[in-house]
Amino acid sequence: MNLKSEFLDAMSKLISSVHIVTTDGGFGKAGATVSSVTSVCVDSNSPIILCCLHKDSTAAPLIIKNECFCINTLKNDQKEVADIFSTHGSNHTDSKFQISRFESLTTGAPVLSDCLVSFDCKLLSSDLIGTHHVLIGEVQNLKTHSGLPLLYGNRGYVT
Ligand SMILES: Cc1cc2nc3c(=O)[nH]c(=O)nc-3n(C[C@H](O)[C@H](O)[C@H](O)COP(=O)(O)O)c2cc1C
Repeated sequence: MNLKSEFLDAMSKLISSVHIVTTDGGFGKAGATVSSVTSVCVDSNSPIILCCLHKDSTAAPLIIKNECFCINTLKNDQKEVADIFSTHGSNHTDSKFQISRFESLTTGAPVLSDCLVSFDCKLLSSDLIGTHHVLIGEVQNLKTHSGLPLLYGNRGYVT
């Protein structure tokens, strides 16, 4: 096994929450399923969060142009939302946003109404590291609901 496949194998042992990252604005609406979300810092008044999105995704260029995104953490009964938002291509955008109810908070990025947590962010930077944009956002607003997160690990959803 080479280091790349060893790395992928090692990463598959980690368990992550599952989110959909969404955007909307003058350049259009998009959304994708992501697990690569982490808090960066909470020292300032506006906490900082990041997610990593492939440069060839439909969502990444629109997030960069709209300069906003919302990270919506899914509940454990929202696997169907994760499945639809992991289908690639702009021809799936309408069906993605028809699957549930969305609202907006501060930035205008779509906020999934019945998810666990939504972090509504202004884009701070979007460095391209290899194949992925590291999208760093300043949290402008957030919403939380009770429930348990949808988890992904060992190349599948954890039940
Ligand atoms: C559980 C799960 C987690 C994912 N995490 C990421 C991620 O962190 N970054 C990423 O670029 N793609 C991730 N994907 C793949 C994207 O959801 C997928 O490529 C999707 O097609 C993107 O939609 P778009 O290309 O239309 O924007 C994940 C998929 C699943 C099912």
